[in-house]
Amino acid sequence: MKDPRFFQNIRPEELADTYATPLYVYNERVFRTRCREMKNLVTYPNFTVHYSVKANSNLTLLKIAREEGLHVDAMSPGEIYVEEKAGFLPEEIFYISNNVSIEEMAYAVERGICVSLDSISQLRRFAAHFPGASVSLRINTGIGAGHSEKVVTGGKKTKFAIPEDQLNEAVKICREASLRLKALNQHIGSFFLDGEIYLEGVKALLAAAEKVPGLELIDLGGGFGMPYDEKTQKRLDLSSLGRSLDQLFADFSKKYAALYPESNGKEISFAIEPGRYISAESCVLLGRVHAIKENAGHLYCGTDIGFNVLMRPVLYDSYHKIETWPVRENAPVLSYTVVGNICESGDILAKDRELPQMEENDLVIVCDAGAYGYSMASNYNNRLRPAEVLIGEDDQVRLIRRRDTLEDLVRGFES
Ligand SMILES: Cc1ncc(COP(=O)(O)O)c(C=O)c1O
Repeated sequence: MKDPRFFQNIRPEELADTYATPLYVYNERVFRTRCREMKNLVTYPNFTVHYSVKANSNLTLLKIAREEGLHVDAMSPGEIYVEEKAGFLPEEIFYISNNVSIEEMAYAVERGICVSLDSISQLRRFAAHFPGASVSLRINTGIGAGHSEKVVTGGKKTKFAIPEDQLNEAVKICREASLRLKALNQHIGSFFLDGEIYLEGVKALLAAAEKVPGLELIDLGGGFGMPYDEKTQKRLDLSSLGRSLDQLFADFSKKYAALYPESNGKEISFAIEPGRYISAESCVLLGRVHAIKENAGHLYCGTDIGFNVLMRPVLYDSYHKIETWPVRENAPVLSYTVVGNICESGDILAKDRELPQMEENDLVIVCDAGAYGYSMASNYNNRLRPAEVLIGEDDQVRLIRRRDTLEDLVRGFES
């Protein structure tokens, strides 16, 4: 939660009692603020934010992002489908494909959505099936970043993108198949708090782009981080990063226009693909304490937040700040291992965490859960995925996704 205004005078237990736990609680004001911060990152006029909806694709949030003037990226036909439902137009969607079938490519092409290809192999297949279509090439300039090895997507150890030394070959394939190569894109990985590494990636991509004629768009990728742990992490300095990007954009666009006068002075467009930055801080996850127990000197706080609800701590060893409710002044602080209700010992939300003494039926409030939270939730152990509610700017609470029902668990089975 961190900011006490998050709940806007609504008591967490009121939400928990009304909607049951676990419960994803979003704050519209925070979500809109983050959209605006990204939109205003630079002053360069031809700049678009492609919200990376893999972080959170709740339909209501997507509609809000669209109201805020954001466009979206997509990683699958499913994401495209939901984005269309939220009202995004084909030209507002950028399909960043990875190892996809011809049918998946066709799903985007038939809708007039630009497809980014990320290997020579996929590009050849695309060219054979869709000559004349518009494409982007995802380039690996050798630079990577991320909060875990699992989300570093640039550099030597990654399945993503066309290595820069294969760019000439890729351009040749596009030319031969009359593909309209209109964009280059990259994504160095997920999570940086120091803009320097991002800028390094941008410079490398721009250097590669100078060699490619006819470009209309350069998409620099996402990865913008936010502090999960305010004690050890500093907020990303957006104004300094924005100023540096502005300078790079202005210099590049002048240089590119001089290199390729056939573009008739049309300024090149730039885009970024933030996911986490937009949605992470707009959400807390409420859970209920069902058991407190001690085993071999370890104190366990047993909650209903299993890794089917929030996977990040188990998947990446990620830290999420945890607060407790009710707030008990003067309660002793104890070291808890906070766990869920799933069948594996690894089902741990936080290890040896100093928290005020808790009792059964208390609530835990898991902070910054809005990115890669619900979107990674599953029905493992046949548990029901939780509901999502939104605290609106008008202080009203709205259910924006219902909890799964038991019937949902057997949907799709032959009877
Ligand atoms: C291609 C691409 N773009 C953007 C993102 C968003 O990253 P983040 O949420 O760190 O901004 C991802 C995340 O995996 C990605 O794969």
